[in-house]
Amino acid sequence: MSKEYIERINKAAKFISDKIDGKTPFAGIVLGSGLGELAEKIENKIVIPYTEIPNFSKSTAVGHKGNLIAGYLGEKFVVAMQGRFHFYEGYGMDQVTLPVRVMKVLGISYFFVSNAAGGVNPSFRVGDLMIIKDQINLMPNPLIGKNLDEFGPRFPDMTRPYDLELIKRAKEIAKDLNIKVTSGVYLASTGPTYETPAEYGFFRTIGADAVGMSTVPEVIVARHSSIPVFGVSVITNEGFNFSEDFVNDGDHVVEAANRAAEKLERIITSLIASL
Ligand code: HPA
Repeated sequence: MSKEYIERINKAAKFISDKIDGKTPFAGIVLGSGLGELAEKIENKIVIPYTEIPNFSKSTAVGHKGNLIAGYLGEKFVVAMQGRFHFYEGYGMDQVTLPVRVMKVLGISYFFVSNAAGGVNPSFRVGDLMIIKDQINLMPNPLIGKNLDEFGPRFPDMTRPYDLELIKRAKEIAKDLNIKVTSGVYLASTGPTYETPAEYGFFRTIGADAVGMSTVPEVIVARHSSIPVFGVSVITNEGFNFSEDFVNDGDHVVEAANRAAEKLERIITSLIASL
């Protein structure tokens, strides 16, 4: 499996590298549900649909366009995924995290992730941006199986999953731009069900501020290769104080993420420009 997997990674990387004239991207970016618009701000864009990239999966989730976009953001050459692959879509963790391995082979220096998430910290409100400072993994670990020594060690350190210097800079940038940000712990569950009230309460009790169905596998794989990570959740729903007629639904999540996308865009662009 591991030799075959590395061949799959390298084939995808070679295809992308040829499309971007062998350039080394400074950063890799993953844009979550409803947040794909940031990719439209990328200049001198090269758009590569996932369907063309060997060994990439199909993007089936709502609010996920399914393009890899390369070009300039904050004056740096970046590759951005407009939509990601989720475990709940039925993909194995090898497929969910393959793009991160591919970005590593392409030579990224930083990894930026974003997602839509449900707030479980009762001080959070829909539309808030939460800078992710730590994570709780309640999904299968993507590093289970033979270790890929070419990418990192068997037992990776996870003491600082999100880069402290990037968090500090992002907070300063948000302050300068007059954008309210919070920070907190992101918990990943498999989905695709949203949580029951009891589950939201449980996740709060065990230390989460927000809950979602992505990001953590990608961050584990990036940290396996010691790539500095910066992550942001857009709070799209509140997992507390449910009114009698409240229902969670995917379209509302995407709409709420869309509304907050511009704030996220401005922070990430300035952060990349500052590096
Ligand atoms: N739970 C899980 N994933 C989510 C949520 C949620 O409440 N909101 C957006 N993604």
